[in-house]
Amino acid sequence: MSNDAATVHPVPEATMQGAHVFGMAAHQALVAEAEADYGGYWARLAREFVTWKTPFTKSLDDSNAPFFKWFEDGTLNVSYNCLDRNVERGLGGKVAIVFEADDGQVTRVTYSDLLARTCRLANALKARGVKKGDRVVIYMAMSIEGVVAMQACARIGATHSVVFGGFSAQSLRDRIEGAGAVMVITADEQVRGGKQLPLKAIVDDAIALGGCESVKDVIVYRRTGGKTGWHPSRDHWMHDETEGQPEVCEPEWVGAEHPLFLLYTSGSTGKPKGVQHSTGGYLLHAALTTKWTFDIRDDDVFWCTADIGWVTGHTYIAYGPLALGATEVVFEGVPTYPDAGRFWKMIQDHKVSVFYTAPTAIRSLIKLADASDAVHPKSYDLSSLRILGSVGEPINPAAWEWYHRNVGGGRCPIVDTFWQTETGGHMITPLPGATPLVPGSCTLPFPGIAAAIVDETGNDVPNGQGGILVVKKPWPSMIRTIWGEADRFKSSYFPPELKGYYLAGDGAIRDPGNGYFTITGRIDDVLNVSGHRMGTMEIESALVSCTDLVAEAAVVGRPDDTTGEAICAFVVLKGERPTGAAAKKIATELRNWVGREIGPIAKPKEIRFGDNLPKTRSGKIMRRLLRSLAKDEEITQDTSTLENPAVLAQLAEKN
Ligand code: WTA
Repeated sequence: MSNDAATVHPVPEATMQGAHVFGMAAHQALVAEAEADYGGYWARLAREFVTWKTPFTKSLDDSNAPFFKWFEDGTLNVSYNCLDRNVERGLGGKVAIVFEADDGQVTRVTYSDLLARTCRLANALKARGVKKGDRVVIYMAMSIEGVVAMQACARIGATHSVVFGGFSAQSLRDRIEGAGAVMVITADEQVRGGKQLPLKAIVDDAIALGGCESVKDVIVYRRTGGKTGWHPSRDHWMHDETEGQPEVCEPEWVGAEHPLFLLYTSGSTGKPKGVQHSTGGYLLHAALTTKWTFDIRDDDVFWCTADIGWVTGHTYIAYGPLALGATEVVFEGVPTYPDAGRFWKMIQDHKVSVFYTAPTAIRSLIKLADASDAVHPKSYDLSSLRILGSVGEPINPAAWEWYHRNVGGGRCPIVDTFWQTETGGHMITPLPGATPLVPGSCTLPFPGIAAAIVDETGNDVPNGQGGILVVKKPWPSMIRTIWGEADRFKSSYFPPELKGYYLAGDGAIRDPGNGYFTITGRIDDVLNVSGHRMGTMEIESALVSCTDLVAEAAVVGRPDDTTGEAICAFVVLKGERPTGAAAKKIATELRNWVGREIGPIAKPKEIRFGDNLPKTRSGKIMRRLLRSLAKDEEITQDTSTLENPAVLAQLAEKN
């Protein structure tokens, strides 16, 4: 591919005047500064963006690679940086969060309010004995209280592990046990699309599954007043706990490397990884990327539509915007309720100026807007928008153009931000005042990020030739380890053949002309469904754990117009291979089973049955063939090494 002139969208210089990074020369100067003095570059920014209690004296410590340390002898507190610091700067009365509930009710919280609420909860957690270094699981939906819970943990030095509210009791249990959490913070229920869905009941189920003995207390935010079970010695209402607690709470000053949070994400084995992030380096990159990538200014209204259960909601809701003293929208509901114009109406109502969402959401809203003018962006006043963003999966050029024209009125740059749970913040992204855009390309590395494309031996590949995406130098917000699994951390991200480079797990290609990066997708067994990361092995383990029915299962992804990828499972049952109505019934049963084991997001879109899976004579499942079958492609691969070629016809059959 080549970025011919026709596809390039130049920087709209008139509207981007005054951008924090304005013009390609400024971008290149930052890249050059980082190249000339890597440690010095990050140290300069760490002093500019972070307020330290004790200043650090060294920048990068790479003496125990790949366990890198940044700003190690500095001390700080993230909640101080996000809250007190803004109040001290005179922003106490500024709105920090505009919260819109599922039913449209709006609540505004100023920086002073947010600080007071965070301190009261922080004091309540301390009163229950939560200490620096303890892990607290947060299982909540989008809410002010969710952000307050994260900030309160940060304030007292407790390490939070947020679990997405769509995960099942089993997944929650695994994450509670993995983290050894002393407390779970949850809500009675969550409200999405007009429906009340349980949260506390799932916490109860998770704990009842066993292995969560570390949990002493469960704090429950009353969202709906819906009925929940109650264990008086363990469960406490959040409003009772915070009542009477002082609105001041001295921050716990922690070292820069103190773990701010764990966030479990999928890898290529069946077991999710507890990605551990630092305090100082993470906060630096959260604040820095929010400022440069979104060009945040004092009067901006920023809206990131992600959930706090994912890393995007951590960096670009709970931390980055608050560290800058920005005003942000937090939304409880879904983009299609009460109708598919919800996003556009909210942008209009709250005069959102910077909007950050996922390609899946855009693609599904395009279909609905095409069907009805009433929910088309053109029916709303979106003139407040200045900058648009995309995250989580590749955005196809057609969706990009639609987003640019219909949402951005042709005048707003789109920042297509490539990054990962492990990277803490943006890695490859345009800067809106500097980078000419090409739809489908995340363009150039963020200044200071040494992203590159290499072959299997770690050697650079020429532009125009695809390869493995790596980062050659450690950066401040990188994953520090996999919680409790240091060896797995090393082998997953720093395989010996790649010269010590960080392995992202994605393939990529650079344009021969301008060197722009395009991400070509995961090169491991990780799927990306609607921007949610899922391991094929995780879903396979869930299927085979249905021991009454399933003998064997293999899961692959196939391209999907709306969700990016869709999950397709090939299953061998213990009994006979079902067909017709029986097959449909068992497929539904298995989909629900996976929903219960992992969460509804992991339910396979399609399940097909065979007497066996296609295997080589040595017993290896030939996944290439399964991928072709899932796409309904004709099999052109060599099948001569197959033990059981007859199953291919069975597995090609849809139910
Ligand atoms: C994919 C989400 C293309 C990629 C922040 C990555 C992307 C995985 C983009 C991480 C993008 C994320 N273009 N692909 N702009 N952003 N990805 O950990 O495959 O949930 O490895 O972090 O999403 O997903 P995660």
